[in-house]
Amino acid sequence: MLVCHTIKALKKYLSKKGAKSVGFVPTMGALHDAHISLINASKKENDLTVGSIFVNPQQFNNQSDLDKYPRSVVADLDKLELAQCDVVFVPSVEEMYPQKVEKEFDFGTLSVVMEAAHRPGHFNGVAIVIERFFEIINPTRAYFGEKDFQQLAVIKALVKQLELPVEIVSCPILRESNGLAMSSRNERLSEVEKKQAGAINRTLQQVAAQKNKSVEALKKYFLDEMSQYENFKVEYFEIADAETLKPADSLDETKKYIAFTAVNVGEVRLIDNMPIID
Ligand code: PAF
Repeated sequence: MLVCHTIKALKKYLSKKGAKSVGFVPTMGALHDAHISLINASKKENDLTVGSIFVNPQQFNNQSDLDKYPRSVVADLDKLELAQCDVVFVPSVEEMYPQKVEKEFDFGTLSVVMEAAHRPGHFNGVAIVIERFFEIINPTRAYFGEKDFQQLAVIKALVKQLELPVEIVSCPILRESNGLAMSSRNERLSEVEKKQAGAINRTLQQVAAQKNKSVEALKKYFLDEMSQYENFKVEYFEIADAETLKPADSLDETKKYIAFTAVNVGEVRLIDNMPIID
């Protein structure tokens, strides 16, 4: 596996390989099994797989969140090597952004609801880095996990808006044995918090099992369950249209809906989602 720190070295490698199809798996490192499942999916469908490790400062609206983001490049490279990733791009901030990028994207509803409302500027930063990666790598397909469902929708919207020639592949959420969605942030949970955090997914499942109730009743149920843990703070819980991600006040049986939540467990912000009407 080749590790490239510069765009020049990566481009040289890609042009020498001349692969018919290139799969791309962007990451911010602190890799776990869910990242590796994206690499595996890419390896199945493409001649060559590019991974990246880059903690993108543009997508953090909070300096302390950026500072606390787990970093483990040496262990990450071992995991990627084991997964037989072909090449990993590990650029510096200066390499990615030689000049300040001032672009402002508008993704309509996606830019204002749920994650967008609670993390101003976050998706703009994600769109900036993904556009830059696509420009450098020119992948055939790019792989993203459904845990970050709104991010996935934003990236699909970006590709449509800019008419980029890349297929966006969504991959299912991987979970710990207690249902906790795998995330790099889980590393920052204590053992007790990790156990408790299983309640987020359990409660989402209980909500899905009561889908005949009103949205208001489902919201109340979720918030009441979470309030049993004094170190949990729910940032939002919404049941949204699966296509537009617009939060719903009532459910129409002919449409698909997903429940979305962000819960702070102690110091760690966790997100999860679950289909309600599929
Ligand atoms: O999901 C992530 O890890 C990041 O948002 C991504 C897609 C790698 C962009 O920095």
